[in-house]
Amino acid sequence: METRAEVTKDANRRLRVAIAGFGTVGSAVARILIEQGAASSFELAYILNRRIAKKRVDWMPGSVRWTDDIDEVLDSDVDVFVELMGGLDPAGTWVRRALASGKSVVTANKALIAAEGVALSELACRHRQHLAYGASVAGGVPVLSGLQEGLAGDQLVRVSGILNGTCNYILTRMEDAGLSFADALLEAQRAGFAEADPSADVDGYDARAKITILSRVALGADVDLETVLCRSIRPITAVDLRYAVELGCTIRQISHAEVKDNELHIAVQPMLVERALPHARVVGAQNIVVSTGRYGGETTFSGNGAGGNPTAVAVVSDLVALARLGTTSSESMSPALKKMVASSQFVMPHYTRYLVRDRPGILAAISQVLATYAINVDAVLQLPGHSREALPFAITLEPSSQQALDAAMAEIGKLHFLAQPPLCLPILRKRA
Ligand SMILES: NC(=O)c1ccc[n+]([C@@H]2O[C@H](COP(=O)([O-])OP(=O)(O)OC[C@H]3O[C@@H](n4cnc5c(N)ncnc54)[C@H](OP(=O)(O)O)[C@@H]3O)[C@@H](O)[C@H]2O)c1
Repeated sequence: METRAEVTKDANRRLRVAIAGFGTVGSAVARILIEQGAASSFELAYILNRRIAKKRVDWMPGSVRWTDDIDEVLDSDVDVFVELMGGLDPAGTWVRRALASGKSVVTANKALIAAEGVALSELACRHRQHLAYGASVAGGVPVLSGLQEGLAGDQLVRVSGILNGTCNYILTRMEDAGLSFADALLEAQRAGFAEADPSADVDGYDARAKITILSRVALGADVDLETVLCRSIRPITAVDLRYAVELGCTIRQISHAEVKDNELHIAVQPMLVERALPHARVVGAQNIVVSTGRYGGETTFSGNGAGGNPTAVAVVSDLVALARLGTTSSESMSPALKKMVASSQFVMPHYTRYLVRDRPGILAAISQVLATYAINVDAVLQLPGHSREALPFAITLEPSSQQALDAAMAEIGKLHFLAQPPLCLPILRKRA
């Protein structure tokens, strides 16, 4: 078999590796490579980081060169540039330069791959190099290679999952301990599961990058990242989790993508999830991805979606794949990739929750608006024990179009008895 990458030319030579970014993941990758020692196919040659003096550790062998100079690394004879700095710049510029200078690239950078992955894969092909990014989705869970290689014989039609451990931790704690969103977030920050600025996680941007990458790899569908609907988990309250339990569900941040009529239906949003679904059983900071194939049905991948060591395993696995033959994650997807329009017009049942100043006629007023948009009510729920000035109750709705729902919720939001805008979440049920 002919291999395209220069890196596989000399089978006896160990691949020389440079790690750019000696942080949580970079240092864990370095440790694995060093502990594997001479028996492995790799030789760690460079560690690149800014302010390198602060980064040095005593466990690094003297043969490894520390530098803060990217030119030194790119002008060297390293075979693989492992980018573990994160962000778009300078990571993107350095990845492009590495590929152009004849080095393959392994990265865990979901932001970069979601935004520029297609162009970077093409650049890698042009320079007869490899670009691998198995760690960019679900950290240590080998989902990209599983979809691309393990399920290559199927035709995948749908992929959904829990791709952000921080949101899952927060929602799990809100359900288990009855915490408010603010308290659960604070706890997640103290436990090291959430950043000081939690927006990328709780507002869905981190998961949006991952579902965009997953759509390319699993469904061969490429959409512009910015056009993917992304809804925050911030409006979820402890009362919503109590209503969810009453309905045989829990609440999770779900990333979902499905090809329908030449459009990619794709979104990241909090949903009520029926307990019978595997998504509902994912607790704490774990991740799950469920793919559906035309022939093979459902396949589930789950495990540690983040953390230094699990993510480092995914990075080193990409290196091993690269050393073996170059059958890495990015390449086989590029030729079949189709540019698609992102749509958020899912037709699903919904949970709606209203916080009202109680008075007669509330239900009639809401029902009237729903009827105007031909939305059928399924059930009404009201748990006791709340003040009449801030009374939460829920209405579940039969499947309806997102367009009709958005219009109805906007109209209901203007009703004078509402203490805050209504909350509207899709309900994910087990398919018959
Ligand atoms: N951590 C996880 O669980 C996880 C999981 C999956 C994927 N990832 C991805 O893995 C990548 C690395 O994440 P991480 O958690 O290891 O991040 P991190 O701990 O913040 O490490 C990043 C390292 O890169 C260095 N760096 C940043 N910008 C640089 C620049 N311009 N020049 C030189 N060095 C620079 C940082 O130096 P300073 O110390 O000076 O800031 C730091 O040592 C990211 O793309 C992330 O999305 C992480």
